[in-house]
Amino acid sequence: MQVHVFDNAQQVGKAAAALFAAQITRKPDSVLGLATGSSPLGCYQQLIEWYQAGLLDFSQCVSYNLDEYVGISHTHPESYHQFMQDNLFHAINMKETHVPDGNAQDLWAEAAAYDAAIEKAGGIDIQLLGIGRNGHIGFNEPADRFVYGTQIVSLTKSTIEANRRFFDSEDQVPRKAISLGIGGIMHAKAVVLIAMGEDKAQAIRDTVKGDVTPAVQASILRFHPNATILVDKAAASLL
Ligand code: GLP
Repeated sequence: MQVHVFDNAQQVGKAAAALFAAQITRKPDSVLGLATGSSPLGCYQQLIEWYQAGLLDFSQCVSYNLDEYVGISHTHPESYHQFMQDNLFHAINMKETHVPDGNAQDLWAEAAAYDAAIEKAGGIDIQLLGIGRNGHIGFNEPADRFVYGTQIVSLTKSTIEANRRFFDSEDQVPRKAISLGIGGIMHAKAVVLIAMGEDKAQAIRDTVKGDVTPAVQASILRFHPNATILVDKAAASLL
């Protein structure tokens, strides 16, 4: 695991975008693993700028997002489908985009089909990750085990509270989500985890320096052969 500390959040976003740009330049038909949340916004903005400047072409790339809430419509402003449209997909020329369907009739069948589709696409070349305050990646919440495949999860109180800011009231925050499992994330050929702000400092410390434990799901990345952690000074303050 490599850790790089930057002065500010903007630099973290640009550094993550640079790793994605290098991947796409090397392999134009890359399979990109994408994430939502506020952390990836600077990265997506930079990718859009490079695309608009003619430096990047996504026309052969396919993307698979990490997760989606269960039970909110794809056009709900806080759905991850809509987030990806608004913050990246509308502005670039990605060949194909995929986000798990949190409204599928049979969610576990959707989960299995999602894993199968990623495998059929050749596996994820580079996976972008944010991190929850409790060390979750995707929506793999602290647990007593690591779950391998895409799963349906109940969100923890800490995650519901953290996501409350995006909804009108806490009641409206979805309680469940569908998320790529830890096996799916660990299978990505490269992983780039980004974190900014003091809020993430403890989770970053636990991930980089604590035990490898399902209580801090991101800690498993210490066993990944090509994991890069990009953080600003605030998120690195407990390292
Ligand atoms: C959600 C997402 C995660 C994300 C986390 C942190 O829980 N499912 O993938 O990493 O939020 O979000 P933020 O970047 O907004 O702090």
